[in-house]
Amino acid sequence: MPQTASQNRSIRLASRPHGAPVPDNFRLETAAVPTPGEGQLLLRTVYLSLDPYMRGRMSAGPSYAAPVEVGDVMCGGTVCRVAASRHPDYREGDWVLAYTGWQDYALSDGQGLQKLAPDMAHPSHALGILGMPGFTAYMGLLDIGQPQPGETLVVAAATGPVGGTVGQIGKLKGCRVVGIAGGAEKCRHAVETLGFDACIDHHRDDLKDALAEACPQGIDVYFENVGGKVFDAVLPLLNTRARIPVCGMIAQYNRTGLPDGPDRLPLLLETILRKRMRMQGFIISLDYGHRYREFHRDMSGWYAEGRIKYREQIVEGLENAPEAFIGLLEGRNFGKLVVQVGARD
Ligand SMILES: NC(=O)c1ccc[n+]([C@@H]2O[C@H](COP(=O)([O-])OP(=O)(O)OC[C@H]3O[C@@H](n4cnc5c(N)ncnc54)[C@H](OP(=O)(O)O)[C@@H]3O)[C@@H](O)[C@H]2O)c1
Repeated sequence: MPQTASQNRSIRLASRPHGAPVPDNFRLETAAVPTPGEGQLLLRTVYLSLDPYMRGRMSAGPSYAAPVEVGDVMCGGTVCRVAASRHPDYREGDWVLAYTGWQDYALSDGQGLQKLAPDMAHPSHALGILGMPGFTAYMGLLDIGQPQPGETLVVAAATGPVGGTVGQIGKLKGCRVVGIAGGAEKCRHAVETLGFDACIDHHRDDLKDALAEACPQGIDVYFENVGGKVFDAVLPLLNTRARIPVCGMIAQYNRTGLPDGPDRLPLLLETILRKRMRMQGFIISLDYGHRYREFHRDMSGWYAEGRIKYREQIVEGLENAPEAFIGLLEGRNFGKLVVQVGARD
């Protein structure tokens, strides 16, 4: 069912998942397209970003942001066209970066919108390399990771918008960069296209040994995207004064309780102390908003010069968003996952 001018399809949270989300946790609803009042504009979604943090919003547990309520539209960043405007600052046809969620249309009073250049070749990039994930990679690595020439940087989810960008910035800063990714094709992409020095498939039984072999000088910066067994493989290789920006732990997002096995917290704390390491969590939207311009200037330049490569996976149709999102949490995406909800023009 494609986007139309008369109906507003939305995908809502039907129920909270227990463990991994399933299609029944989502519900597609249809309503009339709303009409903008004075001072408002009507936004038509062209691209919807799918991101791992949305899994957290589906649950009611404690987090840095409020959950989506059952029955509400799933949240998400979007690139929209202004379909109608009664707002002095916007005209029909303008491109904007918005946060209107998994739906065809939304009203806005202009708050929180960011206008995009009308001649942007790839407006969807505002959801990836030139947007939140690229910004996350840039600030997490440069501000917290502080990579130095000759150091070894390790990053997992290495072909995604965060990990792929972290590794490439690491190369620009003169590091040896080792990626960790799911499968041979992703690992090949990390090395041959993104320019990593090595990439290890985390499905390998000998992950620990393979990572040790790829990091003969140990690890100075570990950019944490996944947690779980990847962190277990990294921990013994960390060098004195290693830095660990804690960005995400996608391997744990679907967990329903603490993992089995021995308590490794004492080992972690002892390693932090003995090696005088620094681990720091960050939430890009809360911690770094004031440095967005700096990021945008550098990343736009690097991207335009071909020094940073970017891979997108576009899924056609709003109705396919739930399945694509479920796949993201299982590593079935290959590159920044974006849903094409409606036509560009
Ligand atoms: N702190 C912040 O402000 C912030 C902002 C944005 C993103 N993040 C975090 O950054 C991380 C990467 O985000 P992204 O948008 O770039 O996602 P992404 O790489 O496009 O997608 C997630 C990837 O995670 C990997 N993965 C999933 N389950 C895994 C597991 N059990 N073990 C190892 N890898 C697994 C998969 O890649 P493989 O197939 O290669 O394993 C999957 O493709 C996420 O943890 C996200 O929550 C944090």
